[in-house]
Amino acid sequence: MPGDKSISHRAAIMASIAYGRTKIDNFATSVDCSSTLECLVSLGVKIERNGSSILIEGAGKSGFTPPSVPLDCGNSGTTMRLLAGILAGQNFHSTLTGDQSLRMRPMKRVIEPLSLMGATIGSQDGRAPLNIDGKALRAIEYAPPVASAQIKSCVLLAGLLADGETSVIESTATRDHTERMLSWFGAEVQEEDLPGGKRLTIAGDRELRANDLQVPGDVSSSAFFMVASACLPGSSLELADVGLNPSRTAIIDTLKSLGANIEIRNERIRSNEPVGDIHVTGGLDKGQGNTGNLLRGGVIANLIDEIPILAVFGTQLDHGLEVRNAAELRVKESDRIKAVVENLKRMGATVTEFDDGFKVERSELYGAVVDSFGDHRIAMAFAVAGLFADGHTDIIGSECAGVSYPGFFDALASVRVG
Ligand code: S3P
Repeated sequence: MPGDKSISHRAAIMASIAYGRTKIDNFATSVDCSSTLECLVSLGVKIERNGSSILIEGAGKSGFTPPSVPLDCGNSGTTMRLLAGILAGQNFHSTLTGDQSLRMRPMKRVIEPLSLMGATIGSQDGRAPLNIDGKALRAIEYAPPVASAQIKSCVLLAGLLADGETSVIESTATRDHTERMLSWFGAEVQEEDLPGGKRLTIAGDRELRANDLQVPGDVSSSAFFMVASACLPGSSLELADVGLNPSRTAIIDTLKSLGANIEIRNERIRSNEPVGDIHVTGGLDKGQGNTGNLLRGGVIANLIDEIPILAVFGTQLDHGLEVRNAAELRVKESDRIKAVVENLKRMGATVTEFDDGFKVERSELYGAVVDSFGDHRIAMAFAVAGLFADGHTDIIGSECAGVSYPGFFDALASVRVG
C-alpha cells in the first residue's frame, strides 16, 4: 500500500516548521501530498525527494519566506486547511488556492477559528482562494461545529504558534494523527476527558524538533482491496505494513461485523502509529450482518473516506446497507452521496438517496458507464464494483485515482483470484 496520505501531509508540514533535518520514508505517492510539498517549497523550505523517501530541512516555526505566487493546494482539502493554520501565524501575506473542486469546498470552518485567533482571512463567501494576512495569534478554546480532523488540526497547528494554551473540544472523535505527530516532533498535546467528548490542549510559542519517521501503508487505500477480496470467494490477500490507528480502523471492524473474513497479524508501533498486516479471505460469512445493517452516529467520522466503497460492499450483502448522519459526504472532493447513488443506479442496483446518506439493497450489478465525478475514491470504489458486475464497466475520469493512489489500477490488475 502507498504511504498514508493523512500522515504524510502532517509529517511534511511539521518537519518543515521543525528545527533540523527530517527523513521521511514511505511518504505517500499521492498527488495530494505532492501538492503539500510544492506549497512548502514555495514557502522556502528545502525538500529533496527520492521516490517515497523525502528529506526536509526544517525552517523553524517562523522561518518560512513570503511566497511570491499563490500556493496551489490542487485537490487537497487537508493541504489547504492545515497550511491555513500555519500561515495564519506567519508575519506575511499568502494566498491558498486549489482546483475547481477545492474552490467549491467550505472553508468558513477554518476561517472562523483562525479569525478568532487574530488572523485576517479574505475569501469569496467562505471559499478559496483564501487571502491570509498572518498575525501574532492569541490562544483560544474552540469547539468545531462539525466533526473534522482537518479543523482540529488547523487550530492545533495555529495554537503551536499562538501566545498561550489553545484547546479544541471534540464531541465526536476524529483521526488523531496530528496529536501523535506533534508529540513525535516534541510538542505534547494534553488530552482531558469531558462529559460527551474531550479537550485537546497545546502550549503555544514552542519549536518542534526534527525526527525521522516511517509512514505506514494507507488503510483507506487498503479498503478497496479488502472489499474486493472479501466478496470474491476463493481469494486470499495480504496487505502488509498498513496503518492501524484506532481512529481509522472502523472500516475493518465494520467489514468484519458485516461478514468479511479479516485477520490482523504482526501488530506493532512504528513512528508513534500502530501498524500491522491485514489478511483477507474471500467469501462472506452467512448469517452475519443480517440485522441492522445501519451505520450512523459517531462511527461515521471514522469511516468517512471509506463510505463510497462501503456502498459498493452493501450491494453484496443479503440485507444491504444503510448509511445515515453522513451529510459531510456532500462536501468532499465530490458530492459523494449523489455520486454513489447515481453510479450504483447506472449499474442496476436498488438504492435510495437521503439528505444525509443512502440505503442500498443486495443487487446484481451490471457493467455500465459510470462517472468518477473527478473524485479519486469514487473512481476506485467503482473499479471494485466493476469486478462484481456482469459485463464491462467504464469509469469516466478514472485517472483521478492518482489523487490518493497512483498505480491503483495496476495494483488491482496484478491481484490474482483463486
Ligand atoms: C482528513 C480528514 C478527513 C478526511 C480527509 C483527510 C485528514 O476530512 O475526509 O480525507 O487528513 O485530516 P475532514 O476532517 O474534513 O472530515
